[in-house]
Amino acid sequence: MRFDVLTLFPDMMRAVLEESILGRAAEKGILEFSYTNIRDYAQNKHKKVDDYAYGGGTGLVMAPQPIVSAHESIPKRGRSLTVYLSPQGKVLSQQLAKELAAYDQLILLCGHYEGVDERAIEEVVDLEVSIGDYVLTGGEIPAMALIDCVARMVDGVLPNSDAYSNDSHYNGLLEYPQYTRPPEFRGKAVPEILLSGHHANIQKWQRKQSLYRTWKKRPDMLRRADLEEADKAYLALYKGKKRNRGGFLDG
Ligand code: ADE
Repeated sequence: MRFDVLTLFPDMMRAVLEESILGRAAEKGILEFSYTNIRDYAQNKHKKVDDYAYGGGTGLVMAPQPIVSAHESIPKRGRSLTVYLSPQGKVLSQQLAKELAAYDQLILLCGHYEGVDERAIEEVVDLEVSIGDYVLTGGEIPAMALIDCVARMVDGVLPNSDAYSNDSHYNGLLEYPQYTRPPEFRGKAVPEILLSGHHANIQKWQRKQSLYRTWKKRPDMLRRADLEEADKAYLALYKGKKRNRGGFLDG
């Protein structure tokens, strides 16, 4: 999968995307990253990329020409989608990331200053995406978040799909708690069931932990989750047990 980033700060992107898991996937040729500096495409003497806003206002607006020319310079590959990172976009979720991972190429437009001239958006953008209801100074950090979340679901980036299919949010629930060695740390033991080697019971325990955590931390998710009959029965049991305390997480 190829990611093309249209940005005024290519070094900022490079520093993050060429490290760790994504960096290794790029070395193996599973992912491809390319950075296009919008300023290189400004057709004016001073390579100016922004200008005053018509109608007044304090901030500068990114001009359409450098953006559209930079976008035109990018070679298009297979199923390609151009995404503009903006606080006005569709909020990024695991589901949206999964859909984006099905493309061959994502072209990510990072805005700066007060925004981007609307005509550039109309000209090149297929989808606006926000990483949450708050405002950052530019689209680079949101683009990094989006790329990281999408790229880890591309085949071959993680060791196997189990590595992400148990993640929080992947199946509409939060993930169960994880433990590693030592078996006891500061008087706290790893739950005994995890040392039992009984796979089916461990899975049941993990499912219950997932349900319990989601119920405790994100009850809004539970209302939307695709629950099996056993899950519903278990939650109903919990609501009963809550009154006489304890027992919920046993067995
Ligand atoms: N640019 C500025 N704030 C943003 C946000 N929350 N999401 C995506 N892009 C942004």
